[in-house]
Amino acid sequence: MKTLGILSLTGLVSAQAAPYAQCGGSGYSGSTTCVSGWTCQYQNDWYSQCLACKCAQIVCCNAFNRLTRNTKAAGGGTTLSTRVLTTTSKTTTTTKATGSATGFPTTNGLEFEIGGKTSYFAGSNSYWIGFLTNNDDVDLVFDHMDESRLRILRVWGFNDVNNVPSSGTVYYQLLKDGTATINTGADGLQRLDYVVASAEARNVKLIINFVNNWSDYGGMAAYVTAFGGSQTSWYTNTAAQTAYRAYIKAVVSRYIDSPAVFAWELANEPRCKGCDPSVLYDWIQSTSAYIKSLDSKHMVAIGDEGFGLDTGSDGSYPYGYSEGLNFTMNLGIDTIDFATFHLYPTSWGTTNDWGNGWVTSHGAACAAAGKPCLFEEYGATSDHCNIEAPWQKTALGTTGVAADLYWQYGDTLSSGKSADDGNTIYYGTSEFTCLVTDHIAAIDP
Ligand SMILES: *[C@@H]1O[C@H](CO)[C@@H](O)[C@H](O)[C@H]1NC(C)=O
Ligand SMILES: *[C@@H]1O[C@H](CO)[C@@H](O)[C@H](O)[C@H]1NC(C)=O
Repeated sequence: MKTLGILSLTGLVSAQAAPYAQCGGSGYSGSTTCVSGWTCQYQNDWYSQCLACKCAQIVCCNAFNRLTRNTKAAGGGTTLSTRVLTTTSKTTTTTKATGSATGFPTTNGLEFEIGGKTSYFAGSNSYWIGFLTNNDDVDLVFDHMDESRLRILRVWGFNDVNNVPSSGTVYYQLLKDGTATINTGADGLQRLDYVVASAEARNVKLIINFVNNWSDYGGMAAYVTAFGGSQTSWYTNTAAQTAYRAYIKAVVSRYIDSPAVFAWELANEPRCKGCDPSVLYDWIQSTSAYIKSLDSKHMVAIGDEGFGLDTGSDGSYPYGYSEGLNFTMNLGIDTIDFATFHLYPTSWGTTNDWGNGWVTSHGAACAAAGKPCLFEEYGATSDHCNIEAPWQKTALGTTGVAADLYWQYGDTLSSGKSADDGNTIYYGTSEFTCLVTDHIAAIDP
């Protein structure tokens, strides 16, 4: 176990800070100037970062400089906001993960490339696989996935608690009384280590997510308990963000060289109800750039539900902006490699058929932005094949949609059937045949 203090994010002291590296902020003692061509830009009181003013972003740079001058003239230099970048940087010059050269998964235009192959891919979600304590169970899942040609599995890379659970229960991080302690023990991140090793041996790629919006496995609520604030202020709460970044750094460093990592993901379904979309935008921008500063080889995504979209909008709740997300604006962030969106008509008060338009709308927005969309979670609580197979067909036929991951994978483990939330599709069942075998045969016969 390793206790992480408040100064653990201190960057390397060197002559000049590297692209996307930290270059200022509370507690920071490294270089405050960036390498040539990069500018140290204030993000918030605890983090300034080296960002590029690329040609394509000249409008943004000009606006930034103008704002800097104006703010300084008004005597408020240290409270400079980067909001102006939000509204002017429509450019999508992605800082593409350099995975291709290293055999890591990457984007290729509007598609994904895995193991040198550019294709549409199918996969699934398993929030629980990193919390299993039996290695054979983990291997069994990846054996079945490999055999079924399910190439991507999205997993929870977090498991936050406010109190140490009883012995034998896996947790990754203890958040208590203002202190974060990462559990690197046998009942901690070593369980995630095994998931990564097992996936690597079977050529399954993982999306590893860093925090939950929801209170399952701790989530933002666990940070709020330890550090104060609220779920909506979590995104700008210095103590919470410091712990969150230290956690990200711990996980990224463990698997930085692994070709089994498909992408890092900021959060599961981040929302900020009633917030201006700039709150999540600023958090996504600075967090994704922070991850890129640690690891430029792997892709980075948000993990959001795809809310807040004008393209194809029928005015229904998911297209709206009430949860503080602007899909198009967030996709313009150059340290975000691809978009994510989810689909749960039952929870959102829409019809199942409405889901097809939701898929094509996101595909169109992704194509316009020049980045692939991952249809990352979808589920129905009954009649899975009749409801979900049409969504899969639509996704496969939509330019801009590059892969889909159904929620959620099920299998028979040493302890019995894996968790069933009503959405689970179990390996070896007739539902598995129609939603996995038949779907993958349609992708790649
Ligand atoms: C997740 O986000 C929504 C919207 O902001 C919020 O209502 C909900 O409470 C959040 N979950 C938790 C555990 O805070
Ligand atoms: C969402 O972002 C797009 C692209 O930046 C912008 O045109 C649109 O006005 C934004 N909408 C809202 C409601 O923020």
